Amino acid sequence: MTEKLDLLARRNAEAEIGGGAVRLAAQHQKGKLSARERLDILLDEGSFVEIDKFVTARSDAGGGFGDGVVTGYGRVEGRLVYVFSQDFTVLGGSLAEAHAKKICKIMDHAVRNGAPVIGLNDSGGARIQEGVVALGAYADIFLRNTLASGVVPQISAILGPCAGGAVYSPAITDFIYMVRGTSYMFVTGPNVVKTVTHEDVTMEELGGADTHAGTSGVAHFACDSEIACLTQIRELFRFVPSNNMADAPRGTSMDPRDRRDEALLDVVPENPNKPYDMLDVIRKIVDDGEFYEVHRDYAQNILCGFSHLGGTSVGIVANQPAVLAGVLDIAASMKAARFIRFCDAFNIPIVTFEDVPGFLPGVSQEHGGIIRHGAKLLYAYCEATVPKLTVITRKAYGGAYDVMSSKHIRGDFNVAWPTAEIAVMGPKGAVEIIYKREIAEADDPVEATDAKVEEYRQQFANPYMAAAWGYVDDIIDPRDTRPRLIDALEALAGKRDRNPPRKHGNIPL
Ligand code: HXC
Repeated sequence: MTEKLDLLARRNAEAEIGGGAVRLAAQHQKGKLSARERLDILLDEGSFVEIDKFVTARSDAGGGFGDGVVTGYGRVEGRLVYVFSQDFTVLGGSLAEAHAKKICKIMDHAVRNGAPVIGLNDSGGARIQEGVVALGAYADIFLRNTLASGVVPQISAILGPCAGGAVYSPAITDFIYMVRGTSYMFVTGPNVVKTVTHEDVTMEELGGADTHAGTSGVAHFACDSEIACLTQIRELFRFVPSNNMADAPRGTSMDPRDRRDEALLDVVPENPNKPYDMLDVIRKIVDDGEFYEVHRDYAQNILCGFSHLGGTSVGIVANQPAVLAGVLDIAASMKAARFIRFCDAFNIPIVTFEDVPGFLPGVSQEHGGIIRHGAKLLYAYCEATVPKLTVITRKAYGGAYDVMSSKHIRGDFNVAWPTAEIAVMGPKGAVEIIYKREIAEADDPVEATDAKVEEYRQQFANPYMAAAWGYVDDIIDPRDTRPRLIDALEALAGKRDRNPPRKHGNIPL
């Protein structure tokens, strides 16, 4: 027996060393951690249980024990998660048949056991030596990503290269985290780009963390280091449930549920055209002012993120008047639609803070398909059956009024602050249309316009007509927003609503 245990110890050591000390040193040299070091940071101490450590590659390319990926399960904040961590020191973390089978196995376990999947990606892509078998192996993962979508949360960290078709596995997952300076995602790298389009571009510019978090929207988070990235993933688990049948974790804050914030009276400026920061509103209302912002650097005219309200985990969607006046454009519509669908899939109530002047006009928006993309946001709100709460702080104009979780599309609790302006369009635009002739014939057209604008404001740009029709449930003192939302969330805790039976809807993709 002693001999056999010695052999096991040797094999364990061999498997754990991955590509060897030289390659590990090169990995560290690049500012990157090893596959196992990453798992140590991601998971609760001592919780990792490895699966398939002794699996070997099908080809003789030399993947060694484990075939370039460490897989298994562990705990985050005490909750079960399944993980894979690609080992770049073994053939560049390239994905081959055995490597992919290991990933598929833990994904199957995760779906069966209702636990999230976290993938730590660091790979040169399909293992060239395995040819089409490696391509097929990727497809096996893509299929599982798709079938697991909406069943368990799927989280991707990109901690090195992620190129070619390999990007499509993370792309299907719910949240992508990247690290500045060391992680890249692209369909084709800078060399191919140069050959095909003659564009000179660096790896970082083409597919680095800031590019994807700020410009393409592919990544939801750009982090300064691997440790920051892995820590931030752990934080996400304070808000999301383990699967689509489980409750989201409750917050542990002692923030009083009846807390009124006097400062909310002064957030919205007197001048309706003056911007303010909607983050100030959110932070003054949610538990301990904590807001786990998703897609912070992308489409900043809309805010999406998680908070707790009286301990209940909520997804917050808010127009941001401080950026482009909070207008809805293509990027904002897509960003919020995807976030809303995540919340709905995982039974997280959606709280909407609304101050929106409408959809962004212009040739580039129209030609870019604002109709199709704006419809995604409308569709996402319409189909969501989770509790939907809306607070109109200021503008709710035009189609955007309908879109932003209005009563008509199954908003459950819709309230307005006294500063709300709910109308077909803003006063100036409306007056210029309906009083066109009077203004043209007036001795002083500017004075006539101003008078009509004031008249319109009194009549339409307020929340009272909406309240008269029951389109908002109440007009509330801004200071009461927190207690009113918490109370409504409790009233809606048992909400049951469902969409008609069908194979699936056809969201305008
Ligand atoms: C086999 C690979 C590999 C691959 C890297 N290696 N990529 N082995 N298949 N795809 C090996 C290298 O030979 C090397 O082995 C080790 O990994 C480290 O690679 P280096 O090139 O030395 O590292 P670095 O300079 O950091 O460059 C990393 C890299 C580069 C940018 C990822 O290796 C690279 O361009 N690789 C190819 C990327 C690629 O085109 N992949 C296919 C994409 S298409 P040694 O023994 O020297 O240490 C794809 C299709 C997916 O993935 C299909 C889904 C639909």
